[in-house]
Parts: sequence; C-alpha cells; structure tokens
Amino acid sequence: MESQRLVFKRSSINEIILGNDIVKEIVSRLLRFRASRNCAVVTSETIAKWYLQPLLSELRSRGFAVSEIVVPDGEKHKNFETASTILSKLCDAKMDRDCPVIALGGGVICDLAGFVASIYKRGLPLVMLPTSLLAMVDACIGGKNGINLAQGKNLAGTFYQPFFTAIDVSVLRTLPLNQLAYGLVEAVKHGAIADTAYFRFILKNLNEIKSKQLPLMQRLIRRSIHIKKSFVAGDELDQGNRSHLNLGHTFGHALEAAGNYIRLHHGEAVGLGMLMAIKAAAAEGILEDDYSQGLKAILTELGLPTSLPAELDKKEILLNLSQDKKKSHNGYQFILPKALGRTTIHQIGCEKIESFLDSAMKI
Ligand SMILES: NC(=O)c1ccc[n+]([C@@H]2O[C@H](COP(=O)([O-])OP(=O)(O)OC[C@H]3O[C@@H](n4cnc5c(N)ncnc54)[C@H](O)[C@@H]3O)[C@@H](O)[C@H]2O)c1
Repeated sequence: MESQRLVFKRSSINEIILGNDIVKEIVSRLLRFRASRNCAVVTSETIAKWYLQPLLSELRSRGFAVSEIVVPDGEKHKNFETASTILSKLCDAKMDRDCPVIALGGGVICDLAGFVASIYKRGLPLVMLPTSLLAMVDACIGGKNGINLAQGKNLAGTFYQPFFTAIDVSVLRTLPLNQLAYGLVEAVKHGAIADTAYFRFILKNLNEIKSKQLPLMQRLIRRSIHIKKSFVAGDELDQGNRSHLNLGHTFGHALEAAGNYIRLHHGEAVGLGMLMAIKAAAAEGILEDDYSQGLKAILTELGLPTSLPAELDKKEILLNLSQDKKKSHNGYQFILPKALGRTTIHQIGCEKIESFLDSAMKI
C-alpha cells in the first residue's frame, strides 16, 4: 500500500492511500483520526451490492455504529432531492460535527456525499472511497463536489477536502469496460496536458489496461493523481493553473449538451473535445506537434468515437459554448494544446467564435 499527501494552503492535508484490498487499512486509518465512532456510509444501489457489506462488517467489528445511506444509481439522481434525503438521514442518525461521512462509489456518489458532508452542520469529516476509474483519477482529487440543477450540470457545489481518500484498485474488477474507457479519457488528458511519457505509456498498454491488470492500473492511477495534484495543489479554488485540466472539456460540454446528454457520454464528448482542441490549435497557429493520430488510436481501441455524430447541430453547439461557465464578457477561454504534454490558455473574442468552432469541427 502506498500513500500520497495533497497539501492545500487554505484547508487541511488530504492523504490519499492507494492499494489492493485495503478495507482493513481504511478502518484502521479512521480509528487513528480519532473521529467519532458514529459514521455514515453513502453509496448507490449498484455499489452496495458489491462492496457495502465488507466495509460495514469491518467498521462494525472495530466498534463503529454505521448508518447505511443507499441512494439510486446514476447521474440523474445527483440532485437536490437526493442530497436532501441524505441530509435527513444524517439528522435521523444524530450525526454530530465529528461523525465521518464515507463516500463509497463513482464520481456521482463522491460529488453527492462530498456536497452533503460540506454543508451538514457546516462540515463533517469526509472520507472518499472512489470505485470507478474516473472517480479515482479525477473526481476524488481536488475537493470539488456538486449537484446538478434543472438548468445544467454541477451548477451547485462547494470546495471541500476529504480528510482522507482511499483507492482500492481491486474494485476495478467489477467496473464495466465502457466505464473504464470513460475514466481512461481523463487519464489520457493528464498525459496530454503534462506528461508525454504517460500518454505513450497508455497508448502502449491499452490491452493490459482493458484487461484491468491491477499492478498496471495502480501505476496509472498513481501517475494521474500526481498530475492532477500538481495542478490543484496551488489553485484549490480554481482561479488559475487548474484550468489546464479543462483540455477538451469546453468543447466536450457543448457537445454533450447539444446531444441532450443522451447522444454522447461525458467521456466520449471529452475525447472528441480533445481532438477538436488540436484542430482549433492548428487553425490558431499555435500547434507545434499534432498528436491527433495517437489520440485517435487510443479512442478507437477503447471503442470511443473519433468523429462528430452527424446529427449534432452546429448552432446548438455554439449556443452551448456561449453558456459555458468560463465564458466572460470579453469572450471565450479555451485550453489548447501546443504539443503533447503542453497546453496553453487561449482567448477567443466573441466575433471569432463561429469560425473557431468551424475549424475545430474538422476532426
Ligand atoms: N468533483 C470533481 O472534481 C469531478 C471530476 C470529474 C467528474 N465528476 C463527476 O463525476 C460523475 C461521473 O463519475 P463516474 O463516471 O464515476 O459515474 P458514476 O458514479 O455514475 O459511475 C458510473 C457507473 O459505474 C458504476 N460503478 C462505479 N464503480 C463501480 C465498480 N467498481 N464496479 C461496478 N460498477 C461500478 C456506477 O454504479 C455507475 O453505474 C459526474 O457526475 C461528474 O460530474 C466530478
């Protein structure tokens, strides 16, 4: 088992532990933190079937009183209604400010439980146990949480750091392959923004990754955590360097929304968004090295699209770009690649956005 520390100036240190079959270790750490023995586990129906009982048994055998809060699975339940149900259950369980909330699940559960833990009694100790690859390499690192509103995704949320995060790579055994691919897109993005060798490592080891060889997965998750850490540690509140992590996301969000969140999954949209960012960078004359062939090879091997669905309407994409959180009155901010492993922040004036999008769509 290995451990890493993520240090923020504003809040406490988040320790991240990474290993295989680490339930006992998780409970030992909880005991060492001297938190209350009254705790709650927040999970989804799908994850509960696989992983709730072993965790509950270990917690109870070590003296914890545990409330099980099992919510329906899926993005459509990442909303105020589910958050409110969880809050009520925390009240019913008489959770005080020193009672830990343990998030056991994918990015949806990490976001929901993190949000609830941050607002209930103005903050309970939070432990993250991510189970999807996306949550391991992305959602559980950096302290962002959130819920969706009818008007859009992740529109309400807070910055709130867990007091520790434990990643048990052995749970990836049950993760469906499409979900593995969606998580891997974020790891590929980490290579694309900061580490050429990591990008090539993923490209070279796609078969091993798809067969979920655990030592290799651990290596991959370790590298992604390092890269995400390097962007978020100095920018906890997302006001600077952290924006590089948005490579492919501004285009990606616009594509997802243009397809009503049905036609494209987030992971598929971000893969396409990264290809669009390469094209856009070439058109802007800032691309020094075109790595789209390598990126296409990865996406194809993962069964993800490399061309835009014909039915997506350019006007809709444009409209959704104009509603992006990063857009200001001066125009649009994009993260564009300069070369593999290097990105830059690029501003596009409102008057140029349509021709910029035209160039980006020629993937
Ligand atoms: N807070 C952040 O910084 C951040 C970053 C990226 C994404 N997110 C959020 O994360 C969410 C997406 O996360 P996700 O892709 O993990 O989705 P998810 O949580 O819906 O998980 C995807 C599916 O995989 C299942 N699953 C998860 N782990 C499993 C396992 N080990 N075995 C079997 N099935 C398993 C889940 O039950 C679900 O059906 C989005 O809501 C997104 O907004 C947050």
